[in-house]
Amino acid sequence: MPKVSTTQMFKDAYAGKYAIGAFNVNNMEIIQGITEAAKDLNAPLILQVSSGARKYANHTYLMKLIEAAVIETGLPIAVHLDHGDSFELCKSCIDGGFTSVMIDGSHHSFEENIAITKKVVEYAHAHGVSVEGELGRLAGVEDDVNVSDEDASYTRPEEVQEFVERTGVDSLAIAIGTSHGAYKFKPGQNPQLRFDILEEVEKRLPGFPIVLHGASSVVPEYVKMINENGGKMPDAIGIPEDMLRKAAAMAVCKINIDSDLRLAMTGVLRKYFAENPSHFDPRQYLTPARAAIKQIVAHKIETVLGNAGKA
Ligand code: G3H
Ligand code: 13P
Ligand code: ZN
Repeated sequence: MPKVSTTQMFKDAYAGKYAIGAFNVNNMEIIQGITEAAKDLNAPLILQVSSGARKYANHTYLMKLIEAAVIETGLPIAVHLDHGDSFELCKSCIDGGFTSVMIDGSHHSFEENIAITKKVVEYAHAHGVSVEGELGRLAGVEDDVNVSDEDASYTRPEEVQEFVERTGVDSLAIAIGTSHGAYKFKPGQNPQLRFDILEEVEKRLPGFPIVLHGASSVVPEYVKMINENGGKMPDAIGIPEDMLRKAAAMAVCKINIDSDLRLAMTGVLRKYFAENPSHFDPRQYLTPARAAIKQIVAHKIETVLGNAGKA
């Protein structure tokens, strides 16, 4: 099975009322942990690469590692650019073998967002690559950009049809209350998502795949593990998993998860070093770190995405 675009995956996910997990990758252990979990559960998968990941690990290294995972697992895997911020970056990823790109024009005006998204769509479609656009603005941290709660804005359902028609995008990320990073809600706050907006979008775009960014649940077990082993994370609150499962049964076909993987890896590494202060062989400490990634991804497939057995 070669790398695939997201087109068929999303058709099946929409009809089957489940979502595909899009997990961020930065190195070999993360790729192995994610793909081993997906293989065990026979789940289709999106591996996504941010521009920061591409700078950290290098395009070719990541591509070859993902190609190795495709061979090893035999799974349908899409390789996706996360938060592309320019036509040039999207083009470089398309030319370099990605099967899907996101052009994130959400910080531009509506007209500018349409213009840049349309330009990427034209190039991508000519190369058999699918495109995700974004309308509305999530709070939180992406790369070096920190969007404050005041600057965040929900997606306006009345804009989605025009955006999709004029750009030709294949999927649309919307803002309904999720946000990037580990601090999505304040202590004492009751986490809520705007399902009314999702329903309205679904009505206006029947059958069209919707994407949720910022969908980590900030699993308390790993925050606790970090803090019990020398870490100092303030109260971190994420998106309740039952809300994500509900969204996955609606029009949401792609759910982005990165922070939960980072927390799992960090928690297990801190614990490992606390228990084994004299160890210094990376293979020793990266083995449990990779196992933690596998465990959290299996958990997401089973409890949030509902896509086990769908590959
Ligand atoms: O939404 C952003 C993802 O978590 C990727 O984060 O830009 O730090 O690689 P990054
Ligand atoms: P989290 O920070 O909630 O994991 O979101 C990741 C994401 O949206 C990547 O694009
Ligand atoms: Zn995101």
